[in-house]
Amino acid sequence: MHSHRHDLKLPNQRRTKPTTWFIAFFCAVLWVMIILGGLIVLIVYLVFRPKNPRFDIPNATLNAIYLDTNAQLTSDGSLLNSDVTILTNFTNPNQKVKIDYSYMVIELYYMNTLIATTSVNPFSAGKAESKLLGIHFVTSQVKLSSDEIQQIRKEVGNNTVKFDVQGKFRTRSNFGSLIRYSYWLHGRCTIVLAGPPYGTLISHKCITKR
Ligand SMILES: *[C@@H]1O[C@H](CO)[C@@H](O)[C@H](O)[C@H]1NC(C)=O
Ligand SMILES: *[C@@H]1O[C@H](CO)[C@@H](O)[C@H](O)[C@H]1NC(C)=O
Ligand SMILES: *[C@@H]1O[C@H](CO)[C@@H](O)[C@H](O)[C@H]1NC(C)=O
Repeated sequence: MHSHRHDLKLPNQRRTKPTTWFIAFFCAVLWVMIILGGLIVLIVYLVFRPKNPRFDIPNATLNAIYLDTNAQLTSDGSLLNSDVTILTNFTNPNQKVKIDYSYMVIELYYMNTLIATTSVNPFSAGKAESKLLGIHFVTSQVKLSSDEIQQIRKEVGNNTVKFDVQGKFRTRSNFGSLIRYSYWLHGRCTIVLAGPPYGTLISHKCITKR
């Protein structure tokens, strides 16, 4: 009786064992993969010490600005025309990481109104390299709100005209040739320019964010 019961139990044990072993093995492999993945990320971080690229506007010129007050199109009766050139500085602060910029759109705002847009051809910034790009914004017959028209008249009269520049960039960091990491970068600058004919840059403030 005793040995008979023992015989009955044996096939049961043999049936459950492979599944248990399989689950244990699977869990172990999963843990090893998670730990290895974490280690790789940590090592890449420690070796490359990645830093965010920076976007800056070191120089700009307001070449022309005028309100077309004869326009019949709007009830406020004034449309903005302007010509602004900016010098952009894309800095890659990384000593060991190359950066590719692919999709790039740069927008010029007067207060809340988008007055000009430019796209920039893709380029790369090598290790610890700064790339300078000149950008030309032409605004033709853009409608402003009546508050904005009042403000722009005041600013042109005072010889200090303020614009906002917003850039959106698709950026890729290359850690060696194998590991790559893509992300969006947002640059925002406020530039204050003197009125034409000199139109020189009076002040600028930029921030770059992920
Ligand atoms: C571009 O930025 C880098 C890093 O901030 C700086 O060293 C360089 O002088 C800048 N270039 C210009 C023309 O402002
Ligand atoms: C800014 O740009 C203007 C016009 O291109 C130029 O005359 C001026 O020297 C530049 N200023 C600096 C600091 O580079
Ligand atoms: C007028 O210009 C001065 C300096 O050029 C500046 O400090 C002041 O804020 C300006 N005022 C307005 C209303 O823009």
